[in-house]
Amino acid sequence: MALRDRWNNRFAFVMAAVGSAVGLGNVWRFPFVCYDSGGGAFLIPFFVALFTAGIPLMILEYALGQRMQGSAPHALFKVSQIRKAERRAKDPKKSSPNWEWVGWWALLVGSTISFYYAVIMSWAFNYLYHSLKVSWAGNESGFFYQTFLRLSEGPGVLGGVSLPIVIGLAITWILIYFIISKGVGRVGKVVMITVPLPVLLMVILVIRGVTLPGAIEGLSYYLTPDFSKLLDPKVWLAAYSQVFFSLSLGFGILIAYASYMPKDSEITNNAFLTSLADAGISFLGGFAVFSTLGYLTQATGSPITEVAKGGPGLAFVIYPTVISKLPWLQGFFGVVFFLMLLTLGIDSAFSIVEGVCTGIQDKWGLHRHKSKVAFVFCLVGFIIGLLFCTKGGLYWLDIADHWVNNFGLAVVGLFECIIIGYFFNIGAFRKEINSVSEIQLGKWWEITIKYFTPLVLVIFLIWNIVTEIRTAYEGYPLWALILGGWAVSIGAIVGGIILMKIRTKHREEFNV
Ligand code: ALA
Repeated sequence: MALRDRWNNRFAFVMAAVGSAVGLGNVWRFPFVCYDSGGGAFLIPFFVALFTAGIPLMILEYALGQRMQGSAPHALFKVSQIRKAERRAKDPKKSSPNWEWVGWWALLVGSTISFYYAVIMSWAFNYLYHSLKVSWAGNESGFFYQTFLRLSEGPGVLGGVSLPIVIGLAITWILIYFIISKGVGRVGKVVMITVPLPVLLMVILVIRGVTLPGAIEGLSYYLTPDFSKLLDPKVWLAAYSQVFFSLSLGFGILIAYASYMPKDSEITNNAFLTSLADAGISFLGGFAVFSTLGYLTQATGSPITEVAKGGPGLAFVIYPTVISKLPWLQGFFGVVFFLMLLTLGIDSAFSIVEGVCTGIQDKWGLHRHKSKVAFVFCLVGFIIGLLFCTKGGLYWLDIADHWVNNFGLAVVGLFECIIIGYFFNIGAFRKEINSVSEIQLGKWWEITIKYFTPLVLVIFLIWNIVTEIRTAYEGYPLWALILGGWAVSIGAIVGGIILMKIRTKHREEFNV
């Protein structure tokens, strides 16, 4: 019987979880969602979402991984088995569904995210190189879309792949493989660099940003509360989706990471630490971004509403524009910014891969062969990622990103709540969590998981489906949305069910 791999200590685990949570989402998602959704007033729905869904679900995911000692599919399989045994004890004819497929679904959603996340990392590697000469100077948007991506006219025109992007992608996957192939011991060491370093780089950018002329104007856009926005349901939905993506919930990552902690380790305090660190770094990211945008509006005379855009446009067009307009050390600040993106992203990227590999290892008894599993996944990730390196790649990346965020993570979270709230003894589970935890969970946790979070997530899902049916996302052709969006989302569910149906004799072999 192979012993389960272990983190070196609790600190390594918390750092790895923070590394997973803190990623591109903190820099290019949070500040803009915040800005779009009422500025400073957005902090209210954000913290409500954090405390009513983010932290309770993080506690649930940590507890699942730790108490069941397994990845998402394995933990949910065990939950189903326990439930079945309880029901059979009362009445031998009774049965209960197997929820393992939800775990695989989470991992398939996570895999899809890793395929494009690695491509964004490749862009950042290329831009790190271009920072040395500030190659984009003078025509930042043209440099990104035409010179660098050589963007085609639509998703139907793929064109060939771009060699520099393929090289960056290969470097990213080799790094991911190198970091995770030796187990969580090495991951625990790498995150001692990849967590503090980007925060330090962010602080440098904040200092540079707030000392630029116009910074105050930018920051006041970011922080001035517009309380009327709180009446708009979209703002609340944005807060919940931001919390899911940013805390790495619904990817199966945190369940896998927690499964490498001993069964009786602390749970609740770790979840509070991880979530609050992530929220704090998001808030700081906003200062770096909006102070420089204030400078940009002053330097170009364009209103902030025109320069403030999230996503790839921020990191690869707007921020480079600011850099080329800096009075001195442009190359240096370019390097600082892209190194920050790379170090922010890498630990989120490898955490997703770790979640998937742990799922495969648990099911097929491959813990001794971690490096082979990691190698195959990284190779597959590289090959699939080639689609996003084509001239039409950005369109497909955008569609995939939109769909997994709207129909992936939060829906997995909804199922987790339903499974634990209605198909498991949640009261006993809470007591088990409290028996090992520093912060004791009150009844509020059960109520949140059973009623409140599922209700919010159902509204979220219905809203998104209605919006999607009413308006084609970004005006893309329907066939592209069906292929890159609906088919991927439904495929992940069907794939989850198929993986659940595969029977292996190794599943119960691991030391629990
Ligand atoms: N939680 C990760 C991020 O924010 C995926 O980028």
